[in-house]
Amino acid sequence: MLDLKEQVKALKSVPKHVAIIMDGNGRWAKKRGYLRALGHENGVDALRRIATAAAEVNIEYLTVYAFSSENWNRPKLEVKALMTILVSSLKKELKTLNDNKIRLRAIGDTSSLPKDCQSELNEVIELTKDHKHMTLTLALSYGSRAELSAAAKSLAQEVLDGKRTVESIDEDALAANLHTSEMPDPDLLIRTSNEFRISNFLMWQIAYSELFFSPKLWPDFQADDLYEAVLDFQNRERRFGKTSEQLKSNVS
Ligand code: IPE
Ligand code: IPE
Ligand code: MG
Repeated sequence: MLDLKEQVKALKSVPKHVAIIMDGNGRWAKKRGYLRALGHENGVDALRRIATAAAEVNIEYLTVYAFSSENWNRPKLEVKALMTILVSSLKKELKTLNDNKIRLRAIGDTSSLPKDCQSELNEVIELTKDHKHMTLTLALSYGSRAELSAAAKSLAQEVLDGKRTVESIDEDALAANLHTSEMPDPDLLIRTSNEFRISNFLMWQIAYSELFFSPKLWPDFQADDLYEAVLDFQNRERRFGKTSEQLKSNVS
């Protein structure tokens, strides 16, 4: 029996884009009597592990929810700890990104992050911009509703400026105004920690994604858990509104 990684490698194709809602850091810490911040630190270790595991099986895009627009409402001390962890991890993870030829990107309202986070983030984005093996996108201060309303606002402005007509506003025009315009939609969305909701993540982009929910808390999530999700995905029939028979006979 091949191990899970070999099974994934033997597949004809893997999902091009995997998105993950990395949830459960707080509960992981609480179970051990630790401060929540320690859960987040262990969450960074899990992200390194999973990004490397994804790159090893040639997933092209990995997009992770690291901090939501609603997470600003957490206790000030926790927000501060998260930002500190973000700055120190960006510095530390450059080697992993370079070794695995991973390009870093960010989506969300990154201008609302503390200045040192922004400059660290921009530096790592710049230093890794030519890597072609995988794109790792951090969703930071990200919320779908904010993203969609900003897109609507920018399209409305273009109409006012005479740059486009109302009729030209269609699905493609809207998608082109989202932060994700340069990547394909996620094929697979994973959420950890036994929570079954989307929490304002990529709501437009996951319209046809396959969903996978794992009971594992994010700091416990292992490469094999990712591979298990990919193998499960491979058995799904993505019908995109058609019937199963249509897909099998290849008749449109
Ligand atoms: C996810 O873990 C990380 C962030 C939201 C920043 P949580 O901090 O939400 O962990 P739980 O859900 O409280 O266990
Ligand atoms: C979603 O997790 C955001 C991230 C994983 C960064 P939350 O823990 O904030 O989501 P809710 O509040 O339980 O829906
Ligand atoms: Mg949570």
